[in-house]
Order: sequence, then C-alpha cells, then structure tokens
Amino acid sequence: MYFSGQELQRAPIGMFDSGVGGLTVLRQMYRQLPNESIIYFGDTARLPYGSRSAAEILQFVREILSWMQQQRVKMVLMACNTSSALALETVREEFDMPILGIILPGAKAAISCGKRIGVIATAATAKSNAYRRAILEVNPDVQVWQVSCPEFVPLVEQNRIHDPYTVEVARSYLEPLLEQDIDTLVYGCTHYPHLAPVLRSILPTCVKLVDPAVHIVKACSRELDLQGIKNTHLPLPTRFTVSGCPQQFAKSSLQWLGCTPMVEKVHLPNVVVSQ
Ligand code: DGL
Repeated sequence: MYFSGQELQRAPIGMFDSGVGGLTVLRQMYRQLPNESIIYFGDTARLPYGSRSAAEILQFVREILSWMQQQRVKMVLMACNTSSALALETVREEFDMPILGIILPGAKAAISCGKRIGVIATAATAKSNAYRRAILEVNPDVQVWQVSCPEFVPLVEQNRIHDPYTVEVARSYLEPLLEQDIDTLVYGCTHYPHLAPVLRSILPTCVKLVDPAVHIVKACSRELDLQGIKNTHLPLPTRFTVSGCPQQFAKSSLQWLGCTPMVEKVHLPNVVVSQ
C-alpha cells in the first residue's frame, strides 16, 4: 500500500467483529484515540463466529482484511477474540499492513490483576486455548480456567441483556469459575462487556473484571506512536458497515453508541488462497 506521510496519518483505522461486540472496542477508541477516523465492519450475516470452524473463520477474516485494504486503512484492529484466536497469526503473514489482535493485550492485563484467572469466551476461542497459552507464556505461575459461553452472543445481539433468562445462563457459566475461587475474570469475547451489569451482579466484588478492549486500544496507541502515524487532524465520522441487515445493526447499536448510526451494507470480495 502506498501512502504519503500525511495521507497515512489521516487514513482510517479498520476494525471488525461479527456484530455489535466490536462496539466495546470502538467506545475505547473514542475515549483513548478521539482523533482517529474509523471504518467499522460487522459480519452480521455470518454471526456468531464462535460456533464456526477454524477454516471458516480464517476465510471470513481474509475476506474482511482484503476489503479493508481496498478501503486504504492504515491499520486493522481485530475487535473480535475468535478471529484473533484462530486467524491472527496466519493473516499477519499474508497482508502488508499492521494487524492488531486482542488476546495478547487482554492476557497481559489479566496477569497484572491476579493469579487465579477465569476466562469466559466463545466456544471457538475456548477450544483454541489461545488465552491460556498467551497468559501462561507471559507468566507460567498463574492458574487459568476457561469457560465457553455459546448463548451469550445471541442474547447480546437480540438485546436480551436484562432478561431473567440471561441472568440464569450467566450464573451457570460462572459457577465453575466461582468454584475455583478466581480473583480475575477476563471478557474473552468483545460482546461480553455489554453484559457487565449482569456479570457484576453475580460475581463477588473482590473479582476483578478485565476488558481487553481497553488494552488493545492502548496497544494501538503505542503502535501509532511508534510508526509516527497518529492522526493530529480532525477525524472523519465513523463509517459503519455490515454484511447483513443495516437497519438491524443500527437498531441494536443505538443503546451502545447513544445515537443511531448510518449503516451501509457491503459485499466482501471472495478470496481464494492457494494452499
Ligand atoms: N465478539 C466476537 C469475539 O470477541 C465474536 C463473537 C461471535 O460471533 O461468536 O469473539
């Protein structure tokens, strides 16, 4: 990709998730890096990613990154743990742009909080063991328990946060972690911070909650500084794009953004990779 220095600073940052989960990362971008222009993509036609195979997720991520590259982004944030767990290492080799994952920043933050760490995640992320590996690589002296929570993403996407059923499901997911006396709980899926009031009402107050969204954005800020490409001008309005129904996304994101965004539907390019 060829940009002049000025162009590179002003170029947008691409972010993606399967749906509204990545908005928890977007909120952090607005807080920590308010000058950056952002293109957000939600792969709503194909969510949830958590029940997909590794090959499917890799294919989706390749398509999204190819499209992001066409939009001339200067960097991509994977605002999705499942994609970071299953595709980050492979696609970093394939694309000529900085791509930041969310697992390592989350793992590092968890280690600074406690020694008995619980991770709640999608089935695909939990099965990949990505959090356990990342946490133990940084500090082998802590203990990690992972629980997959397949019902959470559909409940968040359907905006059923305050449904009594959601509380019941959350209790059953957290039970095995509470039995282990965890002192720290990591949101291993970007949809889960939307469930904070429910989770907080179940967890003892001494359990610290780690939101990797905060830490991927800190990592993004450091990377922009390192490369000298932080935008010092006013940002463009965020461009919201989805693969599914724009109206549905606009409606469900209202409560997380505090306004109804204009949402475009985009068609992703087919990417064929020779194996
Ligand atoms: N929010 C995503 C994550 O962090 C994906 C959830 C899903 O679509 O299952 O893993």
